[in-house]
Amino acid sequence: MDKIAEKINMKIISLITLCALTSAHEITQLQVPLYADPRRPALLSCHFRMDDQKLHSVKFYREMNEIFRYNPSQKPPIRLFNLTDIMVQDGECTADSCMVKVMPPPVATMAVYTCEVSTEGPKFQIARQTKHMNVVAMPQSDPVISGAPKVLKPGEPIFLNCSSDYSLPPSNINWYIDDELQKPDVWQRTELSPMQPGGLQKSWRVLRVRIPQTVSGALRVRCEAIVKSEPPVVKDTTSIITVHSRTQLSKYVSNSRGVKLATNAIFLVTVLWTFNEISRFMSL
Ligand SMILES: *[C@@H]1O[C@H](CO)[C@@H](O)[C@H](O)[C@H]1NC(C)=O
Ligand SMILES: *[C@@H]1O[C@H](CO)[C@@H](O)[C@H](O)[C@H]1NC(C)=O
Repeated sequence: MDKIAEKINMKIISLITLCALTSAHEITQLQVPLYADPRRPALLSCHFRMDDQKLHSVKFYREMNEIFRYNPSQKPPIRLFNLTDIMVQDGECTADSCMVKVMPPPVATMAVYTCEVSTEGPKFQIARQTKHMNVVAMPQSDPVISGAPKVLKPGEPIFLNCSSDYSLPPSNINWYIDDELQKPDVWQRTELSPMQPGGLQKSWRVLRVRIPQTVSGALRVRCEAIVKSEPPVVKDTTSIITVHSRTQLSKYVSNSRGVKLATNAIFLVTVLWTFNEISRFMSL
């Protein structure tokens, strides 16, 4: 009795092993760009190995929605499905791979794409693989600071403007003076430009600076534009502003020297005039 049960068990185990071996169709590689630019189509490809199995279909999904189906026994074999927020542009297959071209939606989002490869009936075995895609557009250039004078008098207020390059999501802007973060006033938050094709936006933030009378020397003003992607991308620009008080002092010094020279000249003129008067008086 036990022997028979054992034998049956063994048979079942070897049958399962055999099934696992024979049904070794698999997805060898799913390629989904981790970052996709909303202005360009993104290419997804799914590579598979069928071994002795017969291919029934290859499908791509975005989240739970089917966007592509390849069914070699149907006409046409390839079908594309547009979704409301994604345009499926193209699809192609070879004996061991399928690719699909999608236009990512122009909003900063993370989406999950799945490739599903199934075998012919009666088994209809399914292999699946999933990858994430982030829709982002990185800024191409550093932010620009405008309104920064080369030289500044203490106590004189100035308004600096930092504007970032276009990006998706838009950059957040931070200001630093000599490495100290400047907390934004209520009316000096990061502002956004209208959207460009692909949903990209420029952002800018104004900083009001007023240097106390006691400060002089070089001021390091830095503007940082951060795109909160995963991982974040930071670009920055620094302007050096010279605070004026030293220059004022040297101007005062040169003025007083001028006054001294003038005094000397008056003294000399007086001496000459006196000399003239005396000689005139003598010659009389
Ligand atoms: C998807 O939408 C685009 C643009 O609207 C269109 O050109 C294309 O034919 C559509 N594809 C399908 C499969 O409906
Ligand atoms: C700051 O610069 C942006 C352009 O980058 C401009 O649109 C905005 O009007 C400027 N803001 C101020 C207050 O100058």
